[in-house]
Amino acid sequence: MKVALRLIFSLIAIVAIVAFSFSAWQAQQEELRLKNDLERRASIIAESLTMSVEPLLLMDETNYLQRIVDKFSNRERLVGIAVHDIRGTLIIASTDLQSLLRDSPKILASNIQEVERMNAQQGEFINLDNQNLHAYSVPLLNNEKATHVLTLFHDASYIQERVHRIWVNSFWRAGTQALLIAIVTAFLVYLNIMTPIRKTTEWIKKVRKGETSEKFDPQGQQLLGPLAKEITRMAKSLEMARLSAEEEARLRHTTDSRWTPERLKEFVRERLQGKPLFVVSNREPYMHIRKGKEIECIVPASGLVTAIEPVLKACGGTWIAQGSGSADRDTVDKDDKLKVPPEEPQYVLKRIWVDKKLEDGFYSGFSNEGLWPLCHIAHTRPIFREEDWAAYKTVNQKFATAALKELEGISEPNVLIQDYHFALIPEMIKSKRPDARVALFWHIPWPNPESFGICPWQREILQGMLGADIIGFHTQFHCNNFIESVDRFLESRIDYEHFTVNREGHTTWIKPFPISIDFNSSNDGSSEIKETKENLLKKYNIQSDYIGVGVDRLDYTKGIIERFRAVEHFLEKNPKYVGKFTFVELGAPSRTMIPKYKEFIDEVTQVTEEINGRFRTKNWQPILLLMKHHSHAEILPFYKFADVCLVTSLHDGMNLVAKEYISAKDNERGVLILSQFTGASRELTDAFIINPYDIGQTAEAIKQALELPLFEQEERMRRMRQRLQDHNIYRWASELVKELAQVRLENQKGGSGGMI
Ligand code: G6P
Repeated sequence: MKVALRLIFSLIAIVAIVAFSFSAWQAQQEELRLKNDLERRASIIAESLTMSVEPLLLMDETNYLQRIVDKFSNRERLVGIAVHDIRGTLIIASTDLQSLLRDSPKILASNIQEVERMNAQQGEFINLDNQNLHAYSVPLLNNEKATHVLTLFHDASYIQERVHRIWVNSFWRAGTQALLIAIVTAFLVYLNIMTPIRKTTEWIKKVRKGETSEKFDPQGQQLLGPLAKEITRMAKSLEMARLSAEEEARLRHTTDSRWTPERLKEFVRERLQGKPLFVVSNREPYMHIRKGKEIECIVPASGLVTAIEPVLKACGGTWIAQGSGSADRDTVDKDDKLKVPPEEPQYVLKRIWVDKKLEDGFYSGFSNEGLWPLCHIAHTRPIFREEDWAAYKTVNQKFATAALKELEGISEPNVLIQDYHFALIPEMIKSKRPDARVALFWHIPWPNPESFGICPWQREILQGMLGADIIGFHTQFHCNNFIESVDRFLESRIDYEHFTVNREGHTTWIKPFPISIDFNSSNDGSSEIKETKENLLKKYNIQSDYIGVGVDRLDYTKGIIERFRAVEHFLEKNPKYVGKFTFVELGAPSRTMIPKYKEFIDEVTQVTEEINGRFRTKNWQPILLLMKHHSHAEILPFYKFADVCLVTSLHDGMNLVAKEYISAKDNERGVLILSQFTGASRELTDAFIINPYDIGQTAEAIKQALELPLFEQEERMRRMRQRLQDHNIYRWASELVKELAQVRLENQKGGSGGMI
């Protein structure tokens, strides 16, 4: 309130000063103008009078003179006319003036003397008997010599009145302005400052007490608009901190072994003795994209990013990845680094630049046309080209060099290398830094030795990977395939009891680490979902009682065509669901520079059109294909409201969409249909497990899912949610770090390798 008063008084003072200065100037100008006017008028009258009076004086025609001065004295504002001789003796005066001048004979003395001396007219403001008068005297000549002085007396009081009126008007004008300013300012301050601040204070109070999780809505509160984001984030951090404190307390109470970010952070700090973590992957967690003049930051669609990001957020460290967004270079510092997540920086992202030609060979070629189909065995023939392999080696070396630079000065550093893009990095790092503890996590399946055997550089790849101390896969099955591949293609000593490979004195542990999600944050923001199930599809002009959902990169391994065919078959077999069930595919275009992926997008589009063409009605269609990159917030309502989620991968390392769907289902309603060829199917046994190649079986699963009694949906959901709560990403990371910390550095300490 004090601030508001200060503001109002300052404004009033400014208005008063401006009004006063302006009025003073205006009054002065007006006074000057009126005086000049009066003087001009007096001089004109005096001039015409002189001509009549001079001869009459000469002739001594006193009576006639008296009549003339009386006659002239009737003019507007002219109070009277007098004639003095040059000694100042009154000769004649208009009747009204006579007594006045006789009583104050000296009043004109100086004027008369001056007229006589200068032989020129003279004006003066005088006060006669409390009247403000203007006396204008002119010489009357006889033979060019002044013998008398003629004086005109004008009433000058109107000049003071006019000036006075200017001041009074200004006073009222300034007063009114000040009053209006005070009222408007008080109103604006109340509306735009006091009210938003009061509302914000109430909201912060509620957040502090944990009484609301509502988003801070600065609508109509322009003043606080820019603060809204920050305040909301702060509130979110507070809420998270409170939730995790409650969770910690609850865990202590129940002696539960659930993993939280805080617990992981503490664990990693203790196990790695405070040393930072280094992660190397091809895909970066945050990508900056230029959209016109704006730069947008997106989280790429990648299971790897979904899983690893929460770990770095919890533990901090450096993530080295390829900068591939169109505005990535504009958002890094001179070392190509930036702190992320942008809204609440917790770790460092170091971007590595790969030129187009190398990228074609390394990423599109060897990684995604070679290794990806090789490992997935999904009926897409792997393509291996010499030049792609050369690019793959070059880029692996580039990332290894960048990582080694980051490790400089840190003894026994810990490095987590991610995925099939970097099979060669473990050896590249280990050969230069034998004191580093290196883990390689392979996010995709590992094929059987027969399939792997078709890769022309099978030995180099295995050798590169075995530079790591630990190689992790999602399942034991993939570990088995890997060990068998090593057995088939490399000279080594394999210990099947401990699942280790020893080559040239270096031991590598092969272990399953089923990756997961940040269970709680996958559901994060659900309280902010304003949408309803009915409205979700309305904007696409679809009315549907039941919703199915699929969320994928548009990749041929995901079984999307098989899924659509199953939806078609389901509708054929169960016509009562025509007009009642819509399947929504949130498909992110992926790797579109690779011909197979382009063809796949065309095929998906064409099959969608074909099926929709068969069944579509005015307000309904069976498949809604939304082909774009969707943010987590955009996906969440679909997870929430979908009665069924279809994950029909033909082969998948884990598949985190299955886990995210379950995490989003806090009402425990809905059914997950899950391919038996995903790693997730080993854990989520309460899903409807299907063979995606069996269209009839998937169609039947959709029907059963939609008709599953609620209590059974809830029971299955509850068990799967329990499993994911216990086996979340923090537990995954803790197990990997625990294993890594136990690695004995053989060349360093003279040991023969293995766990401590
Ligand atoms: C899979 C791989 C990840 C990859 C992701 C997205 O999940 O395991 O390494 O990041 O697909 O593919 P992209 O080629 O876009 O990185």
